[in-house]
Amino acid sequence: MKQKEINFKFSKGIFSDLDQHDQDLVNNAKSSLNDAYAPYSGFQVGASILLENGKIISGSNQENVAYPSGLCAERVAIFYASSNYPNTKIIKMAISVKAVDFNINDVISPCGACRQVIAEYEENQNYPIQIILHSPNNDVMIFDRVQDLLPFLFKSPNLKKH
Ligand code: THU
Repeated sequence: MKQKEINFKFSKGIFSDLDQHDQDLVNNAKSSLNDAYAPYSGFQVGASILLENGKIISGSNQENVAYPSGLCAERVAIFYASSNYPNTKIIKMAISVKAVDFNINDVISPCGACRQVIAEYEENQNYPIQIILHSPNNDVMIFDRVQDLLPFLFKSPNLKKH
């Protein structure tokens, strides 16, 4: 067996390190987390997507008393973007979080299911989707492409017979 290694770079900083456009996108995510319907977890997430046409699409997590029926903010936003702006490139996604009754000290990164979903759009559009993560204490992490967060993802050609 050979040992292999995967390396990738990401940026870590604070909100004020971002340029004005990225600050605006994060602020959009921050304000859309207030629209979260999260009565069960009290964990609010906002996701804002910048499209190539300059439009910003936002979503927040939407929970349900039948817990698995709810959906994360990232998928709410990206499914809306793809439904309403098909064939329009997704340039980046900013994600911001807040908890109603406890402090979040870390940067929170998207769940595996959201990574898988975002990665498929990234793959289809053949253009990287930058991910900007923002914490309540204004820490920021930036990933150049979602596939950096999900190596060995399941891709559609895996379904085809050869
Ligand atoms: N959640 C998101 O919306 N995005 C994430 O990246 C992680 C988790 C939501 C799902 C659920 O409503 C709540 O946060 C707690 O898991």
